[in-house]
Amino acid sequence: MSNVILKNVKKTYDNNKVVINSVNLEIKDKEFVVLVGSSGCGKSTLLRMIAGLENITDGEIFIGDKKVNDVPPKDRDIAFVFQSYALYPHMTVRENIAFGLKMRKVPKAEIEKKVQDAAQILNLTEYLDRKPKQLSGGQRQRVALGRAIVRNPKVFLMDEPLSNLDAKLRVQMRSEIKKLHEKLQTTFIYVTHDQTEALTMGDRIVLLNNGDIQQVDSPDEVYNNPKNTFVAGFIGSPQMNFIDGKDLGLDENILYGIRPEKMVKPEGDIKLTVEVDISEMLGSEKIAYFDIGAKHCSAVLSSDFNIGKTLDLSINSADLYKFDKQTGERIY
Ligand SMILES: Nc1ncnc2c1ncn2[C@@H]1O[C@H](COP(=O)(O)OP(=O)(O)OP(=O)(O)O)[C@@H](O)[C@H]1O
Ligand SMILES: [Mg+2]
Repeated sequence: MSNVILKNVKKTYDNNKVVINSVNLEIKDKEFVVLVGSSGCGKSTLLRMIAGLENITDGEIFIGDKKVNDVPPKDRDIAFVFQSYALYPHMTVRENIAFGLKMRKVPKAEIEKKVQDAAQILNLTEYLDRKPKQLSGGQRQRVALGRAIVRNPKVFLMDEPLSNLDAKLRVQMRSEIKKLHEKLQTTFIYVTHDQTEALTMGDRIVLLNNGDIQQVDSPDEVYNNPKNTFVAGFIGSPQMNFIDGKDLGLDENILYGIRPEKMVKPEGDIKLTVEVDISEMLGSEKIAYFDIGAKHCSAVLSSDFNIGKTLDLSINSADLYKFDKQTGERIY
């Protein structure tokens, strides 16, 4: 079993600032969990505490039902893949992948077998004798994954492993990491600040803000059933529109949310006319930006519109989310 359990885990660094605020989380065996949130919210700190690279100020961490608070990183049966993959430049791919095993004095034949297996899984077999500088960014990141795989860890921890890659390669590596997860049947905990990466990769998403968990759910649930305005605004691009009730002729004390894709519905029972101030090209569709009352909003449209001209919106009230104006909590 390689489940990971966090119980009331807290972190304050020396400066006494609370960075992780009593987190409770249960990650199941073989699950792919994505920790997502904006810069500085505590994602890396949380991952590093699971790895044992950072002390826990309070609380307990279990890996495979064993309490690991006092277990050093090398004995936690985890492998860590970082954003900067830091390969040894003077070593070949084979030597880079084998390095950790060699340090642990694993027998030579066993090392070679593990390296071959990992190379095959990662499509690196033909590159084993190359040096890192003779590889593309994506191939280098695969070597870094190879170093992790050969250790047969119970849990893979990855901290923004794709953020050094260009956009196209990042999309490709996303599905490669998903496939790797399928093949290895191991628990993956993956950190990113990119909500698209979280939505496309995770079995479940853990959305963090200021050291607090905002929601833990499947991608479908966090997108369709956000618990508060933070989740609703963070997940989805362009982001959800928030509109004051009075500007929709509805309850003044409620803040309404609606996805930009739902602003021009033929069956809409709420009609509004707005003036477009910015437009953005998405490809087959365009985004129109405009004000509704004091809020800047957007709509994703397939029909044409013009900047400085009016645009007729038609909203279906069934598509509206309701939030408490003060707390931001969803009203069901
Ligand atoms: N060693 C440290 N000492 C003091 N404060 C730290 C230390 N490491 C991180 N912090 C602070 O803890 C908070 C969380 O940092 P962390 O690196 O976990 O964020 P993150 O979510 O991974 O951000 P990013 O997306 O930018 O990587 C930040 O406010 C950061 O400044
Ligand atoms: Mg980080």
